Amino acid sequence: MVDPKICEQLISLARETQKNAYIPYSKFAVGAALITEDGDIFTGCNVENISYGLCNCGERTAIFSMVAKKGPTARIKHIAVTTAAEIACSPCGACRQVIQEFGPNCTVTYKSEEGFIDVKISQLLPGGFSDFVDSSGKVKSIQSGQ
Ligand code: THU
Repeated sequence: MVDPKICEQLISLARETQKNAYIPYSKFAVGAALITEDGDIFTGCNVENISYGLCNCGERTAIFSMVAKKGPTARIKHIAVTTAAEIACSPCGACRQVIQEFGPNCTVTYKSEEGFIDVKISQLLPGGFSDFVDSSGKVKSIQSGQ
């Protein structure tokens, strides 16, 4: 269930945080803000590097900041992503995988051609890489398309 007030707050915080983006190469500022299952809020922006492959997206900056502060059991309830360009822009594949890791049931808000939309991470990453060991610790097969 998406709380519209929280959603607005996350969008506003993401827009605020995108101002801190380090983007000398792409000039494309991204902000993210998330709320955890237990109500804490974290923000992030993209941080680029001259070695382009080391660029970190806004979403992952926010998530890693959450883990650094709250530890490995923290879970995302809702994450919003904004861009200074205010164009339609959904999270990249790498970020979808990381969002799934720490928020398998979470909602992702981002700008589509029709304005901001709220989408479950399971819709954004069908068939994503998932748990590959069963409860006894044995490696199991991962069904695609789930
Ligand atoms: N970027 C993000 O921050 N999040 C995404 O989901 C996609 C792309 C950043 C990475 C890079 O700094 C810039 O946008 C252009 O690709």
